[in-house]
Amino acid sequence: MIIAIDGPAGSGKSTVCKRVARRLNLFYLDTGAMYRALTYSALRQDVDLTDKGRLVNLANDINIDLKASKSGEQIIYVNGVDVTKEIRLPYVTNNVKFIAKIPGVRHRLVELQRKIAHDKDVILEGRDTTTVVFPRADFKFYLDADQKERARRRFIELQEKGVSVAFEEILEEQIKRDESDINRSVSPLKKARGVIVVDTTGLTISDVVEVIINYVKKFSSDWNLWYAFMQLVSVIITALFFKLRTYGRENIPKRGGFIIATNHSSHLDPIIAGSRCPRQLHYFARLSLFSNKMFGWLIRSVNAHPIRRAGADKHALSLAEKLLKEGKGIVIFPEATRTRDGNLQKAKPGIGFIIGRVDCPVIPAYIHNTFKAMPRGSKWFKSVPVTVTYGKPIYFSFDDNVNIKKRNESYQKIADQVMDEIGQLKRKQCNA
Ligand code: DC
Repeated sequence: MIIAIDGPAGSGKSTVCKRVARRLNLFYLDTGAMYRALTYSALRQDVDLTDKGRLVNLANDINIDLKASKSGEQIIYVNGVDVTKEIRLPYVTNNVKFIAKIPGVRHRLVELQRKIAHDKDVILEGRDTTTVVFPRADFKFYLDADQKERARRRFIELQEKGVSVAFEEILEEQIKRDESDINRSVSPLKKARGVIVVDTTGLTISDVVEVIINYVKKFSSDWNLWYAFMQLVSVIITALFFKLRTYGRENIPKRGGFIIATNHSSHLDPIIAGSRCPRQLHYFARLSLFSNKMFGWLIRSVNAHPIRRAGADKHALSLAEKLLKEGKGIVIFPEATRTRDGNLQKAKPGIGFIIGRVDCPVIPAYIHNTFKAMPRGSKWFKSVPVTVTYGKPIYFSFDDNVNIKKRNESYQKIADQVMDEIGQLKRKQCNA
């Protein structure tokens, strides 16, 4: 599992990270320490901090490693030597900025960070962890707090260290630092897609730790016994009546939020989409289906959520976003309504809108023959063979810096691309 934490200076990232790491038994990766370690090395070797080429070479040659001590503290090694204390010295702190703005250096350190995190359960912290290092982390948090609060925290910290500085001075510095963090050209501070924003203003460190742990726990409780039982019932029914065959189950992500985007021909489709899926899924069904108490209860119990059909239902869209951020899998029918003639229809932009907000994989899926089994208007189903094929995950990049009109166009483009992929799965299925 990977948890990435980002946010402005003074939002409490490192203290929170250390405590969450201890509670959840995760490896704590302090990316700032790596920039410090490189700076320390450069200073030790008298490298000119304006000589970008030499600094990039140094970054490429250096071996930085982070290990947890027995007491859980992080120890930083440079070429095998423990530099944990040295990298916190003021002359290092004051010089990191020269190193951290060199793209070649960042590239190398990001590579190292990914290598260190490989095969581990990790919580990592730093200004580009949610945007660059792990934009597809299982959880991305952005710890925020208003400027005054962050300045106040820094003020108290300095007072405790016996340093006397006026609050106004600290606040002014804070404002300047925020501005430069947001506006710098390399890895600027920004909220990544799908990030969970936690406003820590007025919260204690323990409160913030609890917020994060609660999120993560929700993620772990993805599985529910009743759903598993109903899924078993669906396996029996779909085998008996539709000889259901499933292809590409290996394409379903083992963890983290994802969308299954499938064609829509019949009321049977949600059952078919989820029956053999290795992960428990969430569905959206039109509001009127919940009006019968018994039926409403039944579909709710297997993770169906109501959606208003007319236009884009903002509530349902934000629920989809929330579920994905909590690491759940959801089923979306990009066409929104069932086909009338058995052909694939043009997608609505809704799925693009969701992807624009949450950076998660989309699994295109094609359901074959439910149009014959139970098309629109039929009261009962026919027993015909049905298949479902899950395609390879698609990841979409998304430009956040475009105007509303362009943004809306890109939602439609994403939706069209998803439908294309579904169309390709259909062609493969029909030619098989
Ligand atoms: O979090 P810290 O104070 O230890 O970070 C030290 C410096 O490194 C700080 O100037 C910001 C920079 N940094 C960075 O550029 N990218 C990161 N992922 C982490 C820290």
